[in-house]
Amino acid sequence: MKDGKIQLGLVGAAFIAEIHIESIQKNPFAECLAVASPSSAPAFAAKRGVPLHFSDYRDMLALPELDGVLICCPNHLHVEVTEAAAAAGKPIFCEKPLCMNLAEADRMAKAVRESGVQFFYAEELCFTPKYVRVKQLADEGALGRVYHLKQSEKHSGPHMPWFWDVDRSGGGVTLDMGCHAFAFFRWFLGRPQAVSVTAHMGTYVHADRTRGDDQAVILVEFEREDGSRVLCMAEESWAKLGGMDDRVEAFGTEGCAYADLMKGNAIDTFSRVGVGYAVEKADVSTGWTFTVFEESWNYGFPQEIDHFVEVVRGNAEPLVTVEDGKAALEMIFAAYASAGQGKRIDLPFSSDASKPIDLWKR
Ligand SMILES: NC(=O)c1ccc[n+]([C@@H]2O[C@H](COP(=O)([O-])OP(=O)(O)OC[C@H]3O[C@@H](n4cnc5c(N)ncnc54)[C@H](O)[C@@H]3O)[C@@H](O)[C@H]2O)c1
Repeated sequence: MKDGKIQLGLVGAAFIAEIHIESIQKNPFAECLAVASPSSAPAFAAKRGVPLHFSDYRDMLALPELDGVLICCPNHLHVEVTEAAAAAGKPIFCEKPLCMNLAEADRMAKAVRESGVQFFYAEELCFTPKYVRVKQLADEGALGRVYHLKQSEKHSGPHMPWFWDVDRSGGGVTLDMGCHAFAFFRWFLGRPQAVSVTAHMGTYVHADRTRGDDQAVILVEFEREDGSRVLCMAEESWAKLGGMDDRVEAFGTEGCAYADLMKGNAIDTFSRVGVGYAVEKADVSTGWTFTVFEESWNYGFPQEIDHFVEVVRGNAEPLVTVEDGKAALEMIFAAYASAGQGKRIDLPFSSDASKPIDLWKR
């Protein structure tokens, strides 16, 4: 803590770290003290005015004045950084997906439990203002008993090579983006028990770039304590052109709600010469585009950072936990198993596979 501001450190200095540092620098109670990356930390620190940079994140964790750490590096590193940060007594903000496999998830839960550090699993859909409002509508009873819920995220594919390399990422779009849907379903519905997963997936467009799935539809059935069931559908794509798509649909016995995050919050724009930035992963920006405004805020990223800052300051408990991250990962593993076996998978599901895609591509 310095001048009333908590001091945060970033592990990773590229795409998602850029998004989070903007929110940290806007928060009145936080500062970014340091950043660590074997390659991009010096340039990131210079560009963003971060006082300290490290090539090894362990050196950053040794700083006594560091109050918390954000894990913004590739998936296979989440477990080791969590264990090191927990051992150093630093509160943790961890990007999705939680980690590569269920054994790693257990290691992370153990490290958090035994160290007593706060751990926040960073699922921004639980902070996305439009989706928070849809949940409020459901919670106040405006939709009656929700029996069907859909969440989808689609774009033309990830920005960095490691996402496409399943040995480093662990899987394709079901892992990379399905994790959002699964955490969203649990949060939206008040964390009922997931009882089955059925998935269809394939490499329909990008077989030249990846062994991972680039298009998937996953059904998850949840059972509430009163025995009522909710059928949830996640639709995920790394193949869809025309920029990012993110949608929620909720259906209940008294009503329904449709929330289109990107196009529903955009400026309908026509330009013959193109706009500088239309939306994440827009392929072109000439002609008609759906130009976003306050993209980060509409997604809930600053709200998620503000929440973590309050967790570190001791004013809040993490809204999304390591157990939520593991539950989403369990559904991911079940989805790949379902696609691999061509059948519905009942939960709870356990697997000693080292990465989810191994259950599909055996
Ligand atoms: N919440 C979201 O919507 C969202 C969006 C994008 C990425 N992510 C997640 O964030 C994480 C990072 O993704 P990204 O898109 O920023 O990837 P990226 O490739 O753009 O950036 C990864 C960063 O990690 C650094 N790194 C690599 N090895 C490291 C090490 N040993 N120690 C410290 N830093 C290391 C790299 O140098 C790079 O700066 C992934 O887990 C990804 O799934 C989440």
